[in-house]
Amino acid sequence: MMASPYRRKNIAVFISGRGSNLEALIKASSDSQYPAVISLVVSNNKEAGGLAIAQAHHIKTLFLTDEKEILSHLNRHKIDIICLAGFMQILSEPFLKAWNKPILNIHPSLLPKHKGLHTHRRALAQGDTISGCTVHHVTSELDGGDIIAQEKIAITQDDDEHSLASRILKLEHHLYPVALKNVIEELS
Ligand code: GRF
Repeated sequence: MMASPYRRKNIAVFISGRGSNLEALIKASSDSQYPAVISLVVSNNKEAGGLAIAQAHHIKTLFLTDEKEILSHLNRHKIDIICLAGFMQILSEPFLKAWNKPILNIHPSLLPKHKGLHTHRRALAQGDTISGCTVHHVTSELDGGDIIAQEKIAITQDDDEHSLASRILKLEHHLYPVALKNVIEELS
């Protein structure tokens, strides 16, 4: 097999809950040709289900809320890119300035539509006929940074919040690893 032309980047995934997007990133990175390794998982919630997923894959996990502590761990682990995956904490301007490397986020809507919470409920209430998910760069504006990639899905008559969320989540699991790979290839 040919060696990857890129140095594999060290990724820290920040979570607060279930961790299914974390799991999708871990799966993608289990291929030695994938240009990233998940080196660290940071959770601001001790109970986050994603912590067990990371531990099952022998990935270092940290429960942290203090941004200064987070930064020092990121530096210690030589992290190149942060991927937010259901991380329910807004990173401060000083943190973003001090970090100064890519931070990606995945959001379950076609941004710039439906920033924030309850995206599927709002898509249905507004009679949207398509929805989807977005991976974007993180800035100090909530769900507001440059869009990296999107995947779309048709909303059907039968959809409710639950069915839409679960269909879009499947797209998320495909999109996030692809978008991260694209970002890394552009950096290299
Ligand atoms: C996903 O829908 C993601 O788009 C949003 O939060 C949810 C996290 O789910 N930001 P999981 O923890 O990755 O399963």
